[in-house]
Amino acid sequence: MTETAPADMDVPYVVCGLNEIPSKRAKDFRLGRIENGEVKHWSILIYRLGQNVYGYENQCPHEGVGLDFGGERFVNDNGSLLMCGKHGALFDPGTGECIDGPCLGQALKPVPLVVLDDDVCVIGIELAGEDIEDDVDEDEDPSLCDDVGV
Ligand code: FES
Repeated sequence: MTETAPADMDVPYVVCGLNEIPSKRAKDFRLGRIENGEVKHWSILIYRLGQNVYGYENQCPHEGVGLDFGGERFVNDNGSLLMCGKHGALFDPGTGECIDGPCLGQALKPVPLVVLDDDVCVIGIELAGEDIEDDVDEDEDPSLCDDVGV
């Protein structure tokens, strides 16, 4: 039987270690997403609750700014909700839906994640690895998750 290599979109990319994000906190990552053969900057946030992680594009559905607008930290005071720093919209971290604020009923765009061996990986999205090395911090550069059997 012949094995075929997975398409790039099927390869999980390590974004960070699970323990790099405290529970009830979120962290942003600037990645490079490949679209139509070109690398586009792609800002995402990852929220952790215990052993679970939730990923979203870091773009508020109200005015399109990053949720960390003004240097805010992505979450409300007790860390139970995601929050936009510009006008204070609150989002359910499990669904991305805005539950209070000017974009009520709209939602953050989800980013598919898996946790593999305590690494948080993006899956189902073709990301640039080495190609964006000069544009992002070294610790934010995604790399192939080569220790999984895909
Ligand atoms: S821009 Fe996010 S709540 Fe207005």
